[in-house]
Amino acid sequence: MTQVKSFQLRLFKAEDLDHVIKINLTCLPENYSPFFYLDLHEHYPRTFLVAEADGQIVGYVMCRIELGFSEFRRIEFAKKGHVVSIAVMPDYRRQGIAKTLMIEAMKGMETYNATECFLEVRVTNQPAINLYKKLGFQIIRIIKAYYHDGEDAYEMCRKLPYKESENCD
Ligand code: ACO
Ligand code: ZN
Repeated sequence: MTQVKSFQLRLFKAEDLDHVIKINLTCLPENYSPFFYLDLHEHYPRTFLVAEADGQIVGYVMCRIELGFSEFRRIEFAKKGHVVSIAVMPDYRRQGIAKTLMIEAMKGMETYNATECFLEVRVTNQPAINLYKKLGFQIIRIIKAYYHDGEDAYEMCRKLPYKESENCD
């Protein structure tokens, strides 16, 4: 594993597209068209972040803001931040990069007035499930055969805002 001395987060720029697509293809079977990335960036620029280390992009998170029924009070409408995709390159994992990306993305969601945050994750993706639990997410339901290969997803969610005092590391 590459021991990173430091990493920096910044907002995604259109010039980063090829690098982000490469990370997505390396890390996840859920892949997207260039238009999909640029569309999320155009509409929700404050929740599309990249992490740089050793002078290159090594991780990203991208999100969408959606209006729908609250996961916590199903009879209420809520603005919800949806974490669409997050990934960190294998050599740069377990150094807090994804955690920091998630925290900054949740702060970005707040600036769009989202009051909760949700995502789907493969039921076998223990690293990611652990990451989200550490950040205060709870499993709210199983979505059967959510993925193209038939695997189920957990939907996980938490309320916003994320408070810095929740960070116990
Ligand atoms: N095993 C167990 N727990 C883990 C692991 C692991 N391999 N990786 C992370 N965690 C948990 C730990 O609690 C960790 O804290 P600790 O290191 O102090 O124990 C905590 O998550 C934070 O870990 P980070 O270092 O911030 O996570 P990292 O930068 O390594 O990235 C990620 C985690 C994004 C899941 C990475 O493994 C990855 O890119 N995986 C492939 C892509 C992927 O699965 N993305 C998520 C799909 S779901 C979605 O996108 C909505
Ligand atoms: Zn999703």
